[in-house]
Amino acid sequence: MGIFKVSALRKRQFFGGLIGILISVGIIVFFSFKESEEYISLGPMNKGHEDLSCVTCHADANGNLMQQVQSNISHLAGMREKSVDFGTQDVTVNNCLECHDRPNDRHPSYRFSEPRFKKAIAKIDATTCITCHTEHNGERVSVASINYCMNCHQDLEVEDDPIDVPHSELIANEQWFTCIQCHDFHGNHKYNVPVKIKDTIPMKTIQAYFDGGKDPYGTDKKYIGLSEPAWIKTLQKK
Ligand code: HEC
Ligand code: HEC
Ligand code: HEC
Ligand code: HEC
Ligand code: HEC
Repeated sequence: MGIFKVSALRKRQFFGGLIGILISVGIIVFFSFKESEEYISLGPMNKGHEDLSCVTCHADANGNLMQQVQSNISHLAGMREKSVDFGTQDVTVNNCLECHDRPNDRHPSYRFSEPRFKKAIAKIDATTCITCHTEHNGERVSVASINYCMNCHQDLEVEDDPIDVPHSELIANEQWFTCIQCHDFHGNHKYNVPVKIKDTIPMKTIQAYFDGGKDPYGTDKKYIGLSEPAWIKTLQKK
């Protein structure tokens, strides 16, 4: 009889354990489902970012790469509060620069922290990427209005101006939308800058590029972004 008692206890333990496991699986599935729904509502990743994992931009404030990856996996399993990973930690300019450090950038973000740009920065915050590149909208460039060059180039003087309608005239007539039709912003493309107004890139083509379409300045670039494996390698070196 003693033997029967023991096995009844074992049976109870067995079923208790099984129910525990089923409940846990249920909770994980429930939260993953809820969370993925929330993520889908974020919208598609931007151009070029389709293959990146969340941690490449949403890193934990403290912790090494392994901890970041772990926290992200447990996050996806629904075991951590969303706010722990994504809500509290802002994506900063440094996250972007980990993969997009372009030493040749003609408008480097750090430069605009200088006091002389204070007034301009109040209008267009060029110290951070997100002003012009918000994420999760399937775009490439999202800046509100591309005539923002006016905030810094009012006093521009070009010596021996090569273009048929000189810069001084464009600026006097406030034709600030023409600038991007000849010049890329970061100076990362190798291409011949037009010298005639009739050869400028049409605004429609520029807008299509911003929305994720073909690059009108060409595909010959000085630098391209690091892939995720390359990013992990640079972190491991640190
Ligand atoms: C290339 C960088 C990048 C990657 C990769 C990325 N995000 Fe984001 N995410 C951002 C930026 C930047 C914002 C801030 C919103 C904005 O202004 O665009 C943001 C905002 C969010 C927000 C809104 C809450 C908040 O913190 O502002 C959530 C939630 C989020 N991301 C989840 C995710 C998930 C889930 C993934 C992976 C599928 C992911 N992100 C991948 C850059 C990224
Ligand atoms: C883990 C690396 C990584 C991080 C972090 C990252 N990117 Fe990227 N990004 C890439 C790669 C790879 C591409 C595709 C290759 C390319 O076009 O340079 C890309 C493409 C882009 C493009 C489009 C380039 C083009 O012409 O098609 C923009 C704009 C961009 N990233 C901005 C950002 C911003 C802003 C952030 C920060 C919120 C950021 N990236 C964070 C790797 C990264
Ligand atoms: C004031 C607005 C503004 C800010 C700030 C800004 N960008 Fe851009 N970015 C643009 C515009 C406009 C374009 C399209 C013209 C071009 O290709 O240069 C662009 C294009 C790009 C491209 C694709 C062309 C290339 O250079 O390879 C990448 C990548 C990019 N930005 C990354 C960044 C990153 C990373 C930051 C922050 C360090 C940043 N941008 C800050 C406006 C901005
Ligand atoms: C926040 C200020 C700021 C904004 C906004 C800005 N620029 Fe500039 N830009 C500068 C500074 C600073 C330089 C460096 C030259 C100098 O000191 O005058 C520069 C240089 C340039 C150069 C010359 C680069 C070289 O190597 O000779 C071009 C072309 C240019 N900008 C185009 C533009 C265009 C086009 C826009 C708008 C889409 C724009 N800039 C918006 C501050 C700005
Ligand atoms: C028709 C094409 C065209 C238009 C439109 C245009 N530029 Fe230029 N820009 C050029 C060319 C060509 C140069 C000289 C070669 C170079 O530096 O790329 C130049 C040079 C510059 C320089 C460098 C000046 C120097 O002394 O090194 C700046 C800054 C500049 N442009 C800003 C602007 C701004 C701001 C606008 C809008 C008001 C604008 N450009 C409109 C074609 C154009």
